Amino acid sequence: MRVLLTGGAGFIGSHIALLLLERGFDVIILDSFVNSSSIVINRIKTFLQNKDLKSKFEYIKGDIRDKNILDNIFIKSIKECKPIDTVIHLAGLKSVSDSLTNPLHYWDVNVRGTLNLLLSMKEYECYSLVFSSSATIYGLSDSVPMSEDHKILPINPYGQTKVAIENMFYDLFNSNIKLWKICSLRYFNPVGAHSSGLIGEDPVGIPNNLFPFLTQVAIGRQKILKVFGDDWDTKDGSGVRDYIHIIDLADGHLASIDYLNSNDSCLEFINLGSGHGYSVFQIIRQFELTTGRKIPFSIQGRRDGDVAKCYADISKAKKLLGWTPKRSLEQICLDGWNWQIKNPNGYC
Ligand code: NAD
Ligand code: WQD
Repeated sequence: MRVLLTGGAGFIGSHIALLLLERGFDVIILDSFVNSSSIVINRIKTFLQNKDLKSKFEYIKGDIRDKNILDNIFIKSIKECKPIDTVIHLAGLKSVSDSLTNPLHYWDVNVRGTLNLLLSMKEYECYSLVFSSSATIYGLSDSVPMSEDHKILPINPYGQTKVAIENMFYDLFNSNIKLWKICSLRYFNPVGAHSSGLIGEDPVGIPNNLFPFLTQVAIGRQKILKVFGDDWDTKDGSGVRDYIHIIDLADGHLASIDYLNSNDSCLEFINLGSGHGYSVFQIIRQFELTTGRKIPFSIQGRRDGDVAKCYADISKAKKLLGWTPKRSLEQICLDGWNWQIKNPNGYC
């Protein structure tokens, strides 16, 4: 089977790429490298050599907003008699704060880019899609655990673009072409790294998210972790989130491909999380325990747009995809730290 993986050089995409290749898929990565490094591609190639994998791997540097590039990928694969069976679409922009400053850019990349992709898919009769949606679409509510039926109320342009894309899926599914098969996966907080330490999360600039910030404090790239609030209505006052090991998340995509392959026309919105809520203080404690590194932190005021608690009800993913996250918080800390010590300055 051949998979087109947009955004495959990014944090989540690179991990999905390894899993796909390991399981014998042909993989074409399309990425503009606007938020990733081309070194990722070399790391994927190293992985293939180490494992003596014969799978075919290609990458193309390009923008999903460029329809010619997309069309050419589909045309070439048809000419090679190996048409693309499924698209896993991750290419897009993901910073909440940046989206507040540059909303039109987010609509352009995320929404227009996805529209372009869907147009090419339709033109070249590839109707099977796995998409990277986000728990951010559930907005400011903290009634947990959150199921897929939870009210959709995005509170920033980034979240709005994910909702707009999901709405496109509704329209496609309800159209008279009864061929579309779509899983829109709503990720919670993907963290950790591949256990090889070859690939991991390498945010550009100062990390916005807890886990990469924490590992950078541990390695000495950041001085002190700011804890955004210790007065939330949670067990210890710090914010509670659903941290899922990146490999468990990646596995959810393979399970989704299996699901799409064994079903006719379908559209499913599916939470991917661990199903557990951990507080910031719990994360710090577990990281210290696992790695033996002390994490200096200071309590700050609450961050704008945060909620007290956000974690997933994952019963739909379990039932529909036969998928269960397997890796513990300890494993997350172990693998995340292994990546950070092997790559103290990220990909460079
Ligand atoms: P990432 O930034 O590491 O990866 C996204 C990749 O897309 C990058 O390699 C980037 O260069 C590429 N890209 C961006 N714009 C592009 C364009 N116009 N054309 C081609 N490539 C382009 O982010 P990630 O964490 O791997 O997230 C992947 C997807 O999952 C995103 O769509 C994101 O919104 C979604 N998501 C991420 C999280 C998270 O916490 N990481 C949570 C929920 C949803
Ligand atoms: C987790 C907890 C913070 C940093 C974000 C996006 C969301 C999704 C995933 C894409 C919160 C606290 C954080 C720090 C802290 N991405 N924190 N100090 O906010 O759940 O979700 O990433 O779709 O859209 O909003 O994740 O890692 O930023 O925060 O105390 O330096 O850690 O307040 O309680 P969040 P996060």
